[in-house]
Amino acid sequence: MLLQITFSSLLVAALAAGSSQLADLEPRDNSAQCDCYVVSGKEPGYFQYHRFLDFRSITASDADNFNTPPPLITAAENQGGQNLTSTYFNTTAFSADWFITNKVERTNVPVSLVNSVQNVFISSGLDGSNSTYLALRVSRLDQFASGSEIDSYQQNILHGSFRARMRVIPNFDNASSPFVDNGVSTANIPGINASHPVAPGGCLGFFTYHSDTEESDIEILTLDPLTDIRYSNQPDYDAQTGNTIPGASTDAVMPNNIIWTDWHDHRVDWFDGMSRWYVDDQLVLEKTFHVPTKPSSVVLNLWSDGGNWSGNMTVGSQIVAGVQWIEMAFNTSGKNPMKRDSGSCNIGCTIDNVTTTGSPEVAFNATISARNAATTLNVRGDMTLLLALTFWAILTYGWLMIV
Ligand SMILES: *[C@@H]1O[C@H](CO)[C@@H](O)[C@H](O)[C@H]1NC(C)=O
Ligand SMILES: *[C@@H]1O[C@H](CO)[C@@H](O)[C@H](O)[C@H]1NC(C)=O
Ligand SMILES: *[C@@H]1O[C@H](CO)[C@@H](O)[C@H](O)[C@H]1NC(C)=O
Ligand SMILES: *[C@@H]1O[C@H](CO)[C@@H](O)[C@H](O)[C@H]1NC(C)=O
Ligand SMILES: *[C@@H]1O[C@H](CO)[C@@H](O)[C@H](O)[C@H]1NC(C)=O
Ligand SMILES: *[C@@H]1O[C@H](CO)[C@@H](O)[C@H](O)[C@H]1NC(C)=O
Ligand SMILES: *[C@@H]1O[C@H](CO)[C@@H](O)[C@H](O)[C@H]1NC(C)=O
Ligand SMILES: *[C@@H]1O[C@H](CO)[C@@H](O)[C@H](O)[C@H]1NC(C)=O
Ligand SMILES: *[C@@H]1O[C@H](CO)[C@@H](O)[C@H](O)[C@H]1NC(C)=O
Ligand SMILES: *[C@@H]1O[C@H](CO)[C@@H](O)[C@H](O)[C@H]1NC(C)=O
Repeated sequence: MLLQITFSSLLVAALAAGSSQLADLEPRDNSAQCDCYVVSGKEPGYFQYHRFLDFRSITASDADNFNTPPPLITAAENQGGQNLTSTYFNTTAFSADWFITNKVERTNVPVSLVNSVQNVFISSGLDGSNSTYLALRVSRLDQFASGSEIDSYQQNILHGSFRARMRVIPNFDNASSPFVDNGVSTANIPGINASHPVAPGGCLGFFTYHSDTEESDIEILTLDPLTDIRYSNQPDYDAQTGNTIPGASTDAVMPNNIIWTDWHDHRVDWFDGMSRWYVDDQLVLEKTFHVPTKPSSVVLNLWSDGGNWSGNMTVGSQIVAGVQWIEMAFNTSGKNPMKRDSGSCNIGCTIDNVTTTGSPEVAFNATISARNAATTLNVRGDMTLLLALTFWAILTYGWLMIV
């Protein structure tokens, strides 16, 4: 009896020590009860980390105006270096994990690309709703394209499941529009019409990135039909010959008449030797060709460089994409300040098919109950711990006998 009590109290101490590993959790990770994360799909296994970045109900500060987009970048602002458009981007919810690029990005291309924080803003009022979203913008000036990009600080991501609920927003002219009136009528932009209400020449990308040859992409090309999406493991062309590499990139048609001007959940899963792409949890493509192997970051961007991939935007045209949330479950390589060091998973949570997107739900609970501690430890073959426990228990028992 006494022995059992000793085991129980030891186990409570062990469990308490285990939960302190969750100390790295922040409000942006709605999963204090979870040790690890499982995702839907064919691959077994779990990921150690989870992040959910929700842009749907951001509160405007006095300095913010979510109904008016920031001014377009001017011809003179060709080096990046503008100011953040909202205090939100200074809050931990965003800035602990992400930064916005603000610099000349590419010059060895037909049309230089300069990224600006001014093209990343919080907007609201879309479709008559007052819920907020993250807006990314690219606009075409005579001498360059002014684009947008957010990057994860985490650069040692190795495998994971990455999702973004996003859309490209049609160029309409009502009050809720996130477009700036720059005097260029959509009627004068070739490629915009009722069935393709977006300026061609831009690329909305959501991808893992290590280098141009270690990268797994979801890309929406605005020159494509609204039903098409590009899934690639880079490189998709041979840098020496300029030829495309067969199998690297796929022009997929999304199922169920899904179009990229509507909100949908876009997802890429990166496992050892396998990439899988999904829309709204429907598997669209699997690829084993050139799956990345190197620790990576995650990037979300909207760009144009006049090259053969994005095509050219007409001078004066704008493209705006909306993002409602980003969710990621992932593993990391090497040492990491956030790392939970247990290496085991007792409480596993699913991030799919949950009541509230972004709030993982318990899928299994292998936490050993105090009652079964001895047997469970035995079953686990954790002999060292068992011996230590026994030794300690006998000592305690003996001491109590003496008292
Ligand atoms: C993630 O990392 C944990 C701990 O190293 C490992 O047990 C698990 O198998 C990894 N998951 C995948 C899908 O590789
Ligand atoms: C949206 O409007 C409703 C009704 O006016 C209000 O209760 C809610 O707080 C608003 N939400 C945001 C994010 O502004
Ligand atoms: C950025 O903000 C500072 C302080 O308000 C202002 O002096 C500066 O002109 C701004 N820079 C740009 C590029 O707007
Ligand atoms: C964000 O923080 C920086 C550094 O503290 C500050 O200079 C800048 O004005 C802030 N911007 C906004 C929009 O809050
Ligand atoms: C703005 O126009 C779009 C496209 O015509 C329409 O779907 C949307 O409901 C309009 N929004 C408002 C607030 O009128
Ligand atoms: C609309 O524009 C797209 C190119 O963006 C073009 O392929 C399509 O034929 C056009 N449709 C009509 C009805 O003009
Ligand atoms: C885009 O336009 C530039 C000239 O402004 C040209 O050099 C380039 O070839 C064009 N790109 C495409 C894909 O046609
Ligand atoms: C772009 O496409 C054109 C026409 O097909 C081709 O001549 C050119 O070599 C391509 N450029 C690159 C960099 O692949
Ligand atoms: C999601 O949950 C519903 C209700 O529990 C279930 O019918 C459905 O099969 C689940 N879908 C997936 C993909 O797990
Ligand atoms: C997991 O199981 C343990 C032991 O039965 C229990 O104490 C704990 O509350 C459970 N945790 C969750 C999140 O279900």
